[in-house]
Amino acid sequence: MNESNISIFDTTLRDGEQSPGCSMNLKEKLEMAKQLEKLKVDVIEAGFAIASPGDFEAVKTIADTVKEVKVASLSRALPQDIDKAYEAVKGAEAPRIHTFIATSDIHMKYKLKAAPEDVLNRAVEMVTYAKKYLNDVQFSAEDATRSQPEFLYRVFEAVIKAGATVINVPDTVGYTTPEEFTALIKGIKENVPNIDKATIAVHCHNDLGMAVANTLAAAKAGARQLECTINGIGERAGNAAMEEIVMALQTRYDFYQSKTNIETQQLYPTSRLLTQITGMKVQRNKAIVGENAFAHESGIHQHGVLANKSTYEIMTPESVGLHQHQLVLGKHSGRHAFEDRMKSMGYDLDKKTLDNIFQSFKELADKKKVVYNKDLEALIKDKTLKMEE
Ligand code: KIV
Ligand code: ZN
Repeated sequence: MNESNISIFDTTLRDGEQSPGCSMNLKEKLEMAKQLEKLKVDVIEAGFAIASPGDFEAVKTIADTVKEVKVASLSRALPQDIDKAYEAVKGAEAPRIHTFIATSDIHMKYKLKAAPEDVLNRAVEMVTYAKKYLNDVQFSAEDATRSQPEFLYRVFEAVIKAGATVINVPDTVGYTTPEEFTALIKGIKENVPNIDKATIAVHCHNDLGMAVANTLAAAKAGARQLECTINGIGERAGNAAMEEIVMALQTRYDFYQSKTNIETQQLYPTSRLLTQITGMKVQRNKAIVGENAFAHESGIHQHGVLANKSTYEIMTPESVGLHQHQLVLGKHSGRHAFEDRMKSMGYDLDKKTLDNIFQSFKELADKKKVVYNKDLEALIKDKTLKMEE
């Protein structure tokens, strides 16, 4: 039985790929899409079919190959975009057309050069147009968080009437705050009379570093589709990071009371695959998938973790698919972690030898950021030879 009440919409291959330095070729996109299927995301936004022949080919190939996941293509609110999007996704088991138009005053005036009523009509016409191809049509109100809420409510009501199955509330420029976004989602639920006929989605950018916080606030307020990317890649400062959203929902189930379908042990392998493909590394201290995310160096923390992991770990590294040794030996490490490492390396040393090697380890750690097993082996060899002399 599927218990999840939150759907994860992955846009790594569309919005993520729009980030400088992250473009992928067809083979790489397909490899990534297969991994996203393994991760059990609910929807893959595979690209923007009209953007280029390469994008069209990628969306089409993914739609024809990946069968366990819904596949969406982005399209502007234009008939030619929707035609192309449909051509690309029609082979999918569960195809979706995702169409969008901006609803903020600033975008309507300067970018679209259109009056609000014209924008509303175009949104309705294009959702109706997409519906002639398939049932699952997502509508996004670009720059929703800087739009007039009353106008947004009218647009959403109208597109739902036209058949939109998902209405998306993007924080396109990463401008909102958790409290404000909560109020907006609640406002939509209270002021769009037919809202129960569609799923509320959110799509947050990270310009002020709040994409994940805003996404989680929206989930708490009733959003049921969360849009995100692996490692948080995306335009400018990126999109909300999937691994952070998913692990926050899981670790704080007591608070969010929401489940996803994500196979969390695939989070780390998926993050690594994306890094290998794009060459874009994640910072060491990045939550969930950074090199230091589960590493403990200080003696007090290492002692605690050795006694009971829950002292300093709110989730296990294994739960995100990380299986390597996480007690890092450095100058802050203490005797407990050192002894534990010696044992795990197969050394059963008497107290005098251990004292001796521990002292040399501390001297070495003052000169080196991290002391690795090979350094310890060299120390042991050196010490035991000296002690035998
Ligand atoms: O950020 C944004 O508004 C988008 C839309 C196209 C959903 O990416
Ligand atoms: Zn976006």
